[in-house]
Amino acid sequence: MVEPILVDMVGVASSWTLESYKARGGYTAIKKALSMDREAIIEEVKKANLRGRGGAGFPCGVKWGFLPKQSEVPKYLVINADEGEPGTFKDRLLMDFDPHKMVEGCIIASYAMGMKATYIFIRGELFFSIKRVEQAIREAYAAGYLGKNIGGTGWDHDIYVHPGAGAYICGEETALIESLEGKAGQPRLKPPFPAVVGVFSCPTIVNNVETIACVPAIINRGGDWWFQQSHWYQLGVAKGDEALKAHRGGGGPKMVGLSGHVKNPGIFEVPHGMSLKELIYSDLYGGGMRVVGGVERKVKAVIPGGASCPVLLADEIDVGMDFDSMAAAQTMLGTACATVMDEQTCMVRVASNLAHFFHHESCGQCTPCREGTGWATKVLDDIEEGRGLIEDVELLFDICDNVEGNTICPFGDALAMSVRSYVTKFQDEFRAHVEQGGCMFPRW
Ligand SMILES: Cc1cc2nc3c(=O)[nH]c(=O)nc-3n(C[C@H](O)[C@H](O)[C@H](O)COP(=O)(O)O)c2cc1C
Repeated sequence: MVEPILVDMVGVASSWTLESYKARGGYTAIKKALSMDREAIIEEVKKANLRGRGGAGFPCGVKWGFLPKQSEVPKYLVINADEGEPGTFKDRLLMDFDPHKMVEGCIIASYAMGMKATYIFIRGELFFSIKRVEQAIREAYAAGYLGKNIGGTGWDHDIYVHPGAGAYICGEETALIESLEGKAGQPRLKPPFPAVVGVFSCPTIVNNVETIACVPAIINRGGDWWFQQSHWYQLGVAKGDEALKAHRGGGGPKMVGLSGHVKNPGIFEVPHGMSLKELIYSDLYGGGMRVVGGVERKVKAVIPGGASCPVLLADEIDVGMDFDSMAAAQTMLGTACATVMDEQTCMVRVASNLAHFFHHESCGQCTPCREGTGWATKVLDDIEEGRGLIEDVELLFDICDNVEGNTICPFGDALAMSVRSYVTKFQDEFRAHVEQGGCMFPRW
């Protein structure tokens, strides 16, 4: 079991308070950061190889480096706490039980990049998280970590919480920015990227909650130390293999989630790159598949990191939970919150369920996405409910091909990649639904 860095709040009484956070070493990184050269802070984050935890895995230090050093207009940090990806519930744990970790990360990042203010955009339904984060911000102001002349440096900084209205698309960073500006949450064309033209037309960095919560530990213990906490680095050292040490996938510990048909679902902290199979079967984490009627169920399929990720088959789960290993397995790490399904699960119904979600959440701006998500939903429902034709299987591929790559943001791609993976990997099951006139799996 590794020393928890990101989830060290678990089991600690009143872990969300300033007092508890300080007792766990909180707000020591900020002192160190304020005495460092601003560029040196960004260098530590680059050394750490911290890759964005919001889904895309973009190297955080590199992104920070894109921000113009000199700007005549203010610069802003925006924290993406929209967490709307089905199956994903990791940022919520941080906000509910350790909000100061995120707040300290925001202050350090903002100091390093010279930001005027931070906006934390929290999904509206996460009412409890909003309250906890607001309380932490109030405590941070009272303790002098926010406001005017922080730490005697002459630097001022404010943090504002902005509740969203529960649209999944507002997790896409440019839709989030539109929403923050009071407009409909519809993605912008890129370029320009937010680092150049972001919120209120000012240079903006958008980071995920977990990404920013990693920053205090990186500053306290150093970027090299952080990098060495990953599975690949440890494996490389153990095997003396320079190629592994050179590393794939990203540094540090990683929060991962597990839900579905496992014995012990939850959020865990693991070395970045640990195998998905180990996560499911190890007694430290998932504890194996659920037992029904005295029989342990088998893995049929796993969605590795949220609804947008192509599904993995049971024989594909011995794969590292890092961005590059998942890409090599033709899926994505996404939010690293995996959903495990056993052999009693109908894959047509899963695909239809996801398509309903995408159809409901499409912002409607791009025709291929607006129409394609609805069309895929209807075809999948037909197959599931016994009205399907054998040609519908090909039709689904056709719909996916027409959506993918033809929209402003990756939302349409997410629908296409996800649905295509089910139809490809479980084609026999789709065809059997058509031939047998509907679903052969139990409903509950
Ligand atoms: C449809 C869609 C939904 C997204 N939802 C979220 C989200 O809820 N939280 C998040 O951090 N990133 C989300 N992202 C990714 C963001 O656009 C962005 O890449 C991320 O916030 C950047 O932060 P990071 O570099 O720290 O990962 C979403 C992307 C898309 C296309």
